[in-house]
Amino acid sequence: MKAIILAGGSGTRLYPVTLTVNKHLLPIYNKPMIYYPLSLVMLLGIKDVLFVVNPADRSSFEKLFGDGSKLGINIKYQIQEKPNGLAEGLILAEDFIGDDSVCYILGDNIFFGHDLIKIMEEAKKDVEKDGGAYVFGYSVRDPERFGVVEFDKNGNVISIEEKPKNPKSNYAVVGMYFYDDEAVEIAKRVKPSDRGELEITSVNGEYLRRGKLKVKLLGRGFAWFDAGTHESFLEAGEFVATIEKKTGLMIGCIEEIAYRNGWIDREQLLELAKPLAKTDYGKYLMELAEGED
Ligand code: TTP
Repeated sequence: MKAIILAGGSGTRLYPVTLTVNKHLLPIYNKPMIYYPLSLVMLLGIKDVLFVVNPADRSSFEKLFGDGSKLGINIKYQIQEKPNGLAEGLILAEDFIGDDSVCYILGDNIFFGHDLIKIMEEAKKDVEKDGGAYVFGYSVRDPERFGVVEFDKNGNVISIEEKPKNPKSNYAVVGMYFYDDEAVEIAKRVKPSDRGELEITSVNGEYLRRGKLKVKLLGRGFAWFDAGTHESFLEAGEFVATIEKKTGLMIGCIEEIAYRNGWIDREQLLELAKPLAKTDYGKYLMELAEGED
């Protein structure tokens, strides 16, 4: 399985901040927003990662990650000329995906929870083995802002709608999707919605029509933030700060994950830590390098 992280878009809900700065490079507490989805992909053991980026911001992402070798992974960049919708990333990534399956993550979504990685691994294995699509539902107070799934009394999905005026449930589909290689062909057939975007909900809806969509609900033990508004951006930062201060462990620390995965060695970790030496982030990496393992 490969991974695609969507980091294009216009970020209008964070204006005026994002008039000049790409949303995904803004800090959620002590690290760029984009570290969080990347860390999940790395925790899944996926080494081939494609970032979908705006033309103007490609160089910033390259400055941050290069080709990924510093983290022991392979990073490629795909330009999206205009924010034509989440499903367009699949079409643009056709060559990258090839006949592989893909973990498709929104660059402004932040997840945290006990057993999160185990649940993601189940989705990964399921799609690798049986194909189809695997997505997650999460109860929210404002479902009309999201793609919404409806279930029958046996828990089977019966509909999926994008930003419905009258949501049929409180379950929003979160921004982490697992697809087989059919997703590209499906995305190519999607017609732009009323707001002129190729909606990912249309891709999920087609999998549902084919009887190939699995939806797993994330319960109350999970936190999910779409950090794309001023309020949720702040909430996400406060959440990460609280957990990190309480536990002394970092969330979304990509250098730590690369090291613990055995993708970089102690020397490489120290190299990454050096420029950050004045920060608690850098000190954390130093301690890790000097630590027990
Ligand atoms: P959104 O938050 O739906 O859109 P946006 O980032 O353009 O923000 P706003 O609504 O405030 O204008 O996008 C979800 C994620 O997907 C986000 O991380 C940006 C990314 N994205 C793309 O990469 N390409 C796109 O065409 C769109 C619409 C979003």
